[in-house]
Amino acid sequence: MGQDVVFSPFQLKSHRLKNRLGVAPMTRMSSPGDSIPRKDVLEFLARRATNGAAIVFTEGIVTDYESAQGYPRQARLLTQRQIDAWKPVVKSIRDAGAVAIAQLFHCGRVAWPEVNPAGRIIAPSAVAPMQQNPLTGKPYPVPDEMSRFDIEHVVRGFVETAKGAVAAGFDGVEIHGAHGYLITQFLSTYSNQRTDDYGGPVENRFRFAREIIRAVRPVVPADRLLTFRISNWGIADMEVSLFGGSQEWQGLIRLLSAEPIDAISVSTYRYADKAFGTDKTMAGLTREETKLPLMICGQIHDRTACEDALKDADIVLSAKSMLLNPNWVEDVRQGKTLPLHKSSEANVAYTETPLP
Ligand SMILES: Cc1cc2nc3c(=O)[nH]c(=O)nc-3n(C[C@H](O)[C@H](O)[C@H](O)COP(=O)(O)O)c2cc1C
Repeated sequence: MGQDVVFSPFQLKSHRLKNRLGVAPMTRMSSPGDSIPRKDVLEFLARRATNGAAIVFTEGIVTDYESAQGYPRQARLLTQRQIDAWKPVVKSIRDAGAVAIAQLFHCGRVAWPEVNPAGRIIAPSAVAPMQQNPLTGKPYPVPDEMSRFDIEHVVRGFVETAKGAVAAGFDGVEIHGAHGYLITQFLSTYSNQRTDDYGGPVENRFRFAREIIRAVRPVVPADRLLTFRISNWGIADMEVSLFGGSQEWQGLIRLLSAEPIDAISVSTYRYADKAFGTDKTMAGLTREETKLPLMICGQIHDRTACEDALKDADIVLSAKSMLLNPNWVEDVRQGKTLPLHKSSEANVAYTETPLP
């Protein structure tokens, strides 16, 4: 791979990315009762595109009014007003020559009763995370085990929200299958103890993800993108390896690659870490099993890290550097010495302080 890989174009289906740098999805908890993010939060996304990002992901957008919401003030894309609010943002991102993707999110068991309008907490099995909820200081409640009816209802929420994203003009949607939220909860034996078709062997645990992908694909026009995000770590009980080893991970990637998706986004805690006791990174293990375009994220903060990460992936996503440094893309281009930001610095994302 040549020296200029970071600023070389990449063909993502019918979309030509001008470089390999993107804004990772970031929840901002800025949407009050109407589930529409604050104006400055929407403008922030457009500004990152103007400043050079080739692809911009939205915050995780909750997929229904019943059980999907896991944090206060999350966004939705289900009503005409919500759709209309995103239209100018998407247009600005596209006018800047970048690709706009809406991320679709269901929290599953990572929730508490007061946080979503219907107060329902559902998951593959009636098992709560071990740790306490840092936002409430209390244990996470034990979720209801999802029935077939619940599963179908949740799948419909993903479909309806994907339709909303298409109506708002987004270039694509991402199914959030990472970070220990609902889809991960099905994928991992850590949270899935079902004995029906949705539990047990990896093919069964993958069934829920596959049903969502196959239901969403037909409402996403062929010229738009459908991506899937996956990780081996979850936001609650963060130290737990959600999958048993490289074989299980690679088996999942094979299953995912057989689905009608356009890219896989692998989220890591630190991209350079060797995975599952092998001598390969998460991206390296993933690349071995898929020909799909691959995005990688996790502490990729400067030009050297970008070049290194792109040895095993096609696109680098950054959250904290993109959040805190409006000139990150240009700083990377110039090869500047750049800080590795701490998680605590990113807490500003959840305040009303407008970001540059
Ligand atoms: C403020 C904030 C909000 C986040 N919200 C989401 C989200 O909605 N969906 C998601 O997939 N990841 C989310 N993440 C995780 C990031 O996309 C990314 O995977 C993680 O921060 C590691 O990347 P980094 O080292 O470049 O920050 C969030 C991260 C931050 C800092």
